[in-house]
Amino acid sequence: MKIAVAKGDGIGPEIMDAVLSIFEANKVPLEYDVVEMGKWVFDKGFSNGMTPEAQQTIETLGILFKGPMETPKGKGVKSVNVTARKTWNTYANKRVFQTLHGVDTVFSKAGIPIDVTIVRENIEDTYGGIEHMLTHDVALSRRFITRPGSMQVIRYAFEMAKKKGARRITCGHKANIMKITDGLFLECFYEVAKEFPELKADDVIVDDLCMKLVTRPDLFDVVVLTNLQGDIVSDLCAGLVGGLGFAPSANIGDHICIFEAVHGTAPDIAGKNIANPTALLLSGLSMLRHLGFMENAAVIENALLYTLESGVHTGDFGDKSKPSVNTTEFAKAIIANFGKTPEHGAKQIFPNKPVTPTQYELEENPLIMSKEASGESIVGVDFFVEFAGQPNDVADKCLKVIGDKFKLITISNRGTQVWPKGSVFTNVVNQYRCRVESVNDAPIEQAAVAELYMKFQAEFKVCSLELLNMWDGKKAYSLAQGQ
Ligand code: NAI
Repeated sequence: MKIAVAKGDGIGPEIMDAVLSIFEANKVPLEYDVVEMGKWVFDKGFSNGMTPEAQQTIETLGILFKGPMETPKGKGVKSVNVTARKTWNTYANKRVFQTLHGVDTVFSKAGIPIDVTIVRENIEDTYGGIEHMLTHDVALSRRFITRPGSMQVIRYAFEMAKKKGARRITCGHKANIMKITDGLFLECFYEVAKEFPELKADDVIVDDLCMKLVTRPDLFDVVVLTNLQGDIVSDLCAGLVGGLGFAPSANIGDHICIFEAVHGTAPDIAGKNIANPTALLLSGLSMLRHLGFMENAAVIENALLYTLESGVHTGDFGDKSKPSVNTTEFAKAIIANFGKTPEHGAKQIFPNKPVTPTQYELEENPLIMSKEASGESIVGVDFFVEFAGQPNDVADKCLKVIGDKFKLITISNRGTQVWPKGSVFTNVVNQYRCRVESVNDAPIEQAAVAELYMKFQAEFKVCSLELLNMWDGKKAYSLAQGQ
């Protein structure tokens, strides 16, 4: 079986070579097609950080095992890591955080075992990177949460939790504040939960989740979150088990999967052969299990756990009074321990059941859609306008132009209502949102919105606008704070 390998930048080649040497010593039946991706590929002029041949190879083979990659700073280029996850729709990012004996943490010392899997949505949210300066003072980031995108990652999380034999699956969210976006994610969570009655499904607000994770991490099993919250919470969990050197990551999609460590290129220690390869090795083991190499994965993992228990360590962890080993020596110690079983957390050895990744030749972009909209009408519009002045002056200008088909409902600044009611203590910036709705919520055509736009642009610079939709008699938009 052949997979694509990208060694990465900084410590990437050192830790990748160490991991591949362990695979080779264990006779893992894999062949590697090494592809060109990373900072040096940006430097060669490929603006997405990978050569067309690399993209073709990865799309043909379906599995990418990658080292960390650097994003060149200040050249307007996007992270190749994020591009890869998004381009190939690896919608679920699975990160497993487990107590590793030999890696001391406050929890291991207190005898509190940790085994938490974070599943983070990997495509949407603010990671769309759709950002604009609306005025010189005001930046806007768009946060997309979609029903089909949420369903994909949540369904994966439930299926994985069931396979893992988890007792509990928790949705982390902030739906109390972001009622529509996080509200949609939470709604999808409970919709999928109905298909898995054997799992205890519950939800926790993300700030409370962080507090609970750092006090009683043993109470959690599988946690599923949106992209940004998942990113933050998973690094928090990495801290619970000993840091980024122990944080593996699998990016799962329907067609292509990417296995990598959570940490970056560690430029401060690159080229010294002292980096810790454990996180990449754990990511590689997750890849082996994904491909059905159960026996290889278990033997290597037991050897890794045995090595850690015996006190062998690289410079970034372990007993500082004992000398550390370098990356190559660490890999050799693991190889020397094949066949040994750790005292704690030994993995059961199951026979290999290789599954060749399906090779897809897609002709069109898959359109993921949950249901056709029904009973949908436009009932108004939010105009985002630039104006350096007082709320009443904005209102006067709006009222002058809106005519009798529309009414001015509210004006807000940074999401807080400042008209018709508000407080003089609210600081305002030079950008207002003016909400205009049709009289009696009568459905309107887009042409009416365009006419209104022409009138608004005579009074203001209109930075952007959003249509206000009504679905089945319900407002599909949030109210301004204080409205
Ligand atoms: P980093 O994770 O590279 O380093 C943070 C600290 O952790 C450093 O002190 C480093 O020496 C240490 N460290 C990280 N991995 C280690 C390992 N395996 N063994 C021992 N020590 C280790 O994070 P930083 O400095 O924020 O990012 C450096 C570069 O990596 C940036 O260009 C960033 O864009 C890129 N990056 C790439 C990622 C990826 O490819 N998935 C993920 C995160 C960052």
